[in-house]
Amino acid sequence: MSIIHNNGCFKLDTKNTTYSFQITKFGFLMHTHYGAKISDVDLAHVYPLARNRSFINAPAEDTEMVLNINDVPQEYSAFGIGDFRTTALRVRHNDGSRAADLRYQSFEIIKGAAKPEALPGATENGEEGIETLKITLKDTATELYVNMYYTVYEKCDVITRFNEIVNKCDTPVFVEKAASLQLDLFHREYDLVQFEGRWAQERHMKRSALSSGTQGFVSRKGTSSHQHSPFFCLCEKDTNEKAGGVYGFHLVYSGNHRTEVEVAQFDNPRVLMGINDEGFAWKLENADKFTTPQVLMTYSASGFGKMSNSFHAFIRNHIFRPKWKNVRRPLLINNWEATYFDFDQQKLIDLASTASKLGIELLVMDDGWFGHREDDKTSLGDWTPYKKRLPNGLKPLAEGINATGLKFGIWMEPEMISEDSELYRAHPDWVLSIPGRGRSLGRNQYVLDLVNDEVREYVFGAISDVLSSANIEYLKWDMNRYLTEVYSATLSADRQGEAYHRYVLAVYDILDRIITKFPNLLIEHCSGGGGRFDTGMLYYSPQIWTSDDTDAVERIDIQYGTSFGFPVTSMGSHVSAVPNHQTGRVTSMDMRANVAFSGTFGYELDINKLTNEEREMIKAQTAFYKEHYNLINFGDYYRLAHNDTFSAWSFVSGDKKEVLVFYVQKEGGPNGSDVFVKLDGIDPGACYKDAQTGEALYGNTLKNVGLCVPITQGERKTMCKYLKV
Ligand code: GLA
Repeated sequence: MSIIHNNGCFKLDTKNTTYSFQITKFGFLMHTHYGAKISDVDLAHVYPLARNRSFINAPAEDTEMVLNINDVPQEYSAFGIGDFRTTALRVRHNDGSRAADLRYQSFEIIKGAAKPEALPGATENGEEGIETLKITLKDTATELYVNMYYTVYEKCDVITRFNEIVNKCDTPVFVEKAASLQLDLFHREYDLVQFEGRWAQERHMKRSALSSGTQGFVSRKGTSSHQHSPFFCLCEKDTNEKAGGVYGFHLVYSGNHRTEVEVAQFDNPRVLMGINDEGFAWKLENADKFTTPQVLMTYSASGFGKMSNSFHAFIRNHIFRPKWKNVRRPLLINNWEATYFDFDQQKLIDLASTASKLGIELLVMDDGWFGHREDDKTSLGDWTPYKKRLPNGLKPLAEGINATGLKFGIWMEPEMISEDSELYRAHPDWVLSIPGRGRSLGRNQYVLDLVNDEVREYVFGAISDVLSSANIEYLKWDMNRYLTEVYSATLSADRQGEAYHRYVLAVYDILDRIITKFPNLLIEHCSGGGGRFDTGMLYYSPQIWTSDDTDAVERIDIQYGTSFGFPVTSMGSHVSAVPNHQTGRVTSMDMRANVAFSGTFGYELDINKLTNEEREMIKAQTAFYKEHYNLINFGDYYRLAHNDTFSAWSFVSGDKKEVLVFYVQKEGGPNGSDVFVKLDGIDPGACYKDAQTGEALYGNTLKNVGLCVPITQGERKTMCKYLKV
């Protein structure tokens, strides 16, 4: 049993962690612990409620002032009644007042997982024994309720949470803020680890000590953004890959988000994560409810490595749709960096026919196949084949590709519209825009108002028609700008604060209907590379184009950062041409492959322009990737070293009998000393054999001494070693 209830105390246990809270004086729900496993269910003796402090704010009925609302660690706090820290919930009542006084009302233990309605979230996916705790809180003065759902995934060491705000008042209530997660901690000796960046440099890890006041990060871009991933960690000062306490949190959401860590006056941090409340207000009429996105939480007492592996396994097993759970996906070639807009049917078939001889299994036709799309200024919204490139449409092209032995995939950017398009000429009002204001362009395009049902139906129909018109087995769903002038003519003035979130819900709705109608379709998500790389999108598409930057050196930092929260099998990663199109850097074919192997692996270059020798290398690489597919995609992942000079990582099979180690040097240079890469996660008692050299290497030597990588002058060294017991 993973959920224990005893006399108003609740204890949620996973294999290695405990999360607990209990009802305290006057019905407040007090958070008591999240961290390594403990035995106590009732922790009242640990937390003195009454403290001899001035400026206490007690609840209305606490005439003796024993409870300080501003001091108690709470499960879900509300604005307006004396908790002066940043609060999880802020509501505006019909009379204009902004307050809610949330007290415990009831609980229920439910068999199975809970997922927020109309939103992506974790599911059981065939695993038994999963339980959910539902807690209901009620506002003392009104009929406003909060239902909190905690699902315990015991084996994975993950707990998920989301909340419903339910209005049973006769009058409307506006939800102005509703966090998905609140976690009150007891001391401030933590570092905040966030994953920040920009286009082509996403998810760079940044670690900084907590200081008093509020720190955190947001997205106001309508997407989860290139700048701040909705994933972060809080770790102890000395936490490293192998040791130390660390919390990890994912928001399963692809729109505006906010993470706040406020270190309050007594050095007690409050962590909130959820939809960004800027520009947000959701009107609840009587009997309506607002459902927050879900948060995934894990805790590791043994460093970042364990935290990452818990999330990797969890995402593979409980976020991916059952169809893609632990399944091998095709190795692809994408024509974007190979041809850009300069292609036609024959060129693609030529590419596919060479690709098929090299072990590649799928060709993805990227941007430029529709309307009269000569460049990025036209035709988004007109999803009919461009006669100049595909004179006979998609069917003969798909057949031609299939005849080479490859599957066929297609690129679309369904949420967008170009001013130069039939769609815009017919429906200029279908754009997300504010009457009387100019319409901001991003990459020469506008965003469709998906809040409008008619527009949403058009988009669903357009995707559906394309997918039904030929044998299309893969869809690259792109999104190449942020949202501005977020206003929908279909919403009343008092509901415009819902537009950002309704847009995200509409995207999810379309995705949901597409995967239901085309159950075998594989979707790769993309937003100018990794601008919408989040667990929300991973629910619909098990792989996301990690970044538009395909340079191997740049990718080391991007994939390193991404790996903290996301499994390698979700990271789109391709070998591209040199000099690299984003950086101009030249790296060896080996290095490009060694970096791209740690992802979905594929190619994005004109293989018809390569030498025979290079094509032979590709053949060897595709064979290598297929041979080690399970180890890379489903094995445990270890970050072994990462600094300005080099990076090393490895994959270890569940039975510890197979190990794949990668090492890449970021820049060549003079001098330098030999590097020793110490392996992690292996069996110290076993004797491994190097598949290439036949050399026998003891596990304890590999662990304690390491593999020596001699530095060679001037060269950017790279190494890949497969070891097997
Ligand atoms: C975005 C994507 C690229 C490519 C182009 C096409 O930038 O990230 O991979 O599909 O759009 O326009």
